[in-house]
Amino acid sequence: MSTAKELGATVVGFETRRFPDGERYVRLTGAVKDDDAVIIQSLYKDPDSLLVEYVFLANTLFDLGVRRIMGVFPYLAYMRQDQRFKDGEAVSSKIISSVIEASHTSEAFIIDPHLHRTHSLDGLFSIRAHNVSAMPDLARYAKGRFGFSDPLVVAPDEEASQWASKVAEQLGVDHVVAKKVRLGDTSVEVELEDAAARGRDVLLVDDIISTGGTLANVAADLKKAGAKKVVALVTHGLFAPGAYERIRKAGVDDIVTTDSVPNPHGGVSVAPVIARALESVL
Ligand code: R5P
Repeated sequence: MSTAKELGATVVGFETRRFPDGERYVRLTGAVKDDDAVIIQSLYKDPDSLLVEYVFLANTLFDLGVRRIMGVFPYLAYMRQDQRFKDGEAVSSKIISSVIEASHTSEAFIIDPHLHRTHSLDGLFSIRAHNVSAMPDLARYAKGRFGFSDPLVVAPDEEASQWASKVAEQLGVDHVVAKKVRLGDTSVEVELEDAAARGRDVLLVDDIISTGGTLANVAADLKKAGAKKVVALVTHGLFAPGAYERIRKAGVDDIVTTDSVPNPHGGVSVAPVIARALESVL
């Protein structure tokens, strides 16, 4: 709704329900012919079902004669399974992007997609796909709220460097990268090589909080290394059960996320950054 407000766009609603056998029903409740359509769909917290909802909406809009379909994904699930780690595994990120494309999506907009072994969205999509970052907005918000002095920006691992560098750039400071070793779905070990944290406020930056293991490990090391305040800045606050407590127990003083998925720490709206990205093509 707030993205539509920022763009001065009309909102068309839809009804959805389940048949007794679990099948989904979708019906658009307004006229759409000849318009540019924008679907904003976060794939959380039931990614399979929300993806089917997106597929139904996009295909129906296409059938009803819209001009273009802009698929906006504040949180695009399935990006972390970006290769076949074990024989026979589905490479989820590639499959999801092809489903989005096959649904007549003209352009995709994804907020801080998890790009790791696939370095750019061009490796996943053949349509135009925009990597839209909420990191500058998170950095501005954190600066206004906490007023850091001499802050240090830390990425918990190499892949988070892409997000930490955006925060660092916004604040006009450098960032350092810790080393992470993943031991399983819910267990990670992190080493911080740089001892530059002593006596400084630290902004710990990542794209996702899931179990909280990544941030908790590096936060504990930062506190041991003498960091003052540690604030976690994260785009997608998924917060698996116990994640918040785990991170706080490890010494993180505050957590700020966006509202890309609903969570109690989502103080930064992604509506403005989505609106700015859409304005450039609509
Ligand atoms: C993965 O590599 C991501 O960038 C995040 O670091 C990760 O998803 C966070 O997961 P968790 O909170 O379970 O450590």
